[in-house]
Amino acid sequence: MTVAYAPGKVILFGEHAVVYGQPAVAVPVTQVQARATVETSPEGQGITIIAENLKQSYSLEQAPPDDALRAIVVSTLEHIGVGTKHDLTITISSTIPIARGLGSGAAVSTAIVRALGRHLGHPLSSQAISNLVYETEKIHHGTPSGIDNTVIAFEKPVYFIRDRKIEIFSVKSPLLLVIADTGIASPTRIAVTHVRQAWEREREKYEELFDEIGTVAEMGRQAIERGETETVGRLMNENHRLLRLLCVSSPELEGLVEAAREGGALGAKLSGAGRGGNIIALVTQETRSRVELMLRLAGAKGVVVSEVG
Ligand code: MEV
Repeated sequence: MTVAYAPGKVILFGEHAVVYGQPAVAVPVTQVQARATVETSPEGQGITIIAENLKQSYSLEQAPPDDALRAIVVSTLEHIGVGTKHDLTITISSTIPIARGLGSGAAVSTAIVRALGRHLGHPLSSQAISNLVYETEKIHHGTPSGIDNTVIAFEKPVYFIRDRKIEIFSVKSPLLLVIADTGIASPTRIAVTHVRQAWEREREKYEELFDEIGTVAEMGRQAIERGETETVGRLMNENHRLLRLLCVSSPELEGLVEAAREGGALGAKLSGAGRGGNIIALVTQETRSRVELMLRLAGAKGVVVSEVG
């Protein structure tokens, strides 16, 4: 049996604008993860996919062509050059909440590619995994920028600009993040489509906002590399303000962002596609418990603390 894992992710700066060519900064979150196991099945059984969280089990042959799990299995086998005539059971489980901006789809796909590659004696590079996962992300997202598959496959902080070589950067002073869930599922595809429609109606206004977000992301990377944690927090607040102007916030996200700031966070913003999903708050060891408490009192459905760097 072969087992492989992949982490979740959060976007620190630049979501949505990254779809339009602006830079974004994202980091892996190892406290939550997807897991895939691959076992050889008795001869003639073909490939079975078991999705434990969804309580589903089906054969590859029965799955519709737009099934994301089927798609990543088929494309991985094609990439390795071995075709789909195998007897394998692929079991997937994940502790990453679905549709909350934590990259659950990309993490599940990454774990599958890793496990399949190793099981068949063909381990794949991070770049090859990222490329394969990107193709499946199109099923989840429509027009993904590629940031989720990149940060999850490389498992490193990334500075990402669409269609450019990725830049992995270092974090000078570790960042302590509190990640709090509104409990509201928000499929990325829907929020991304709404932003696109708004951009098509008012190009100039939205492109200005994307430019401003891009500048914040660039400054955010510099502040992280220099260890200027308070500046990172201020830039997170600024990024959140701009995301609100893109209309991807919600009353629940605003409630959690406010609560985190009242609790003493250095900065707080929605993270990912918005409308629901998670907020992230930058805290210190001293403010951590108070921010966690304030978030729970404000109705957060789940709170995870992650240290980056
Ligand atoms: C989703 O995690 C981030 C978005 O910017 C979409 C994308 O980059 O594909 C909202």
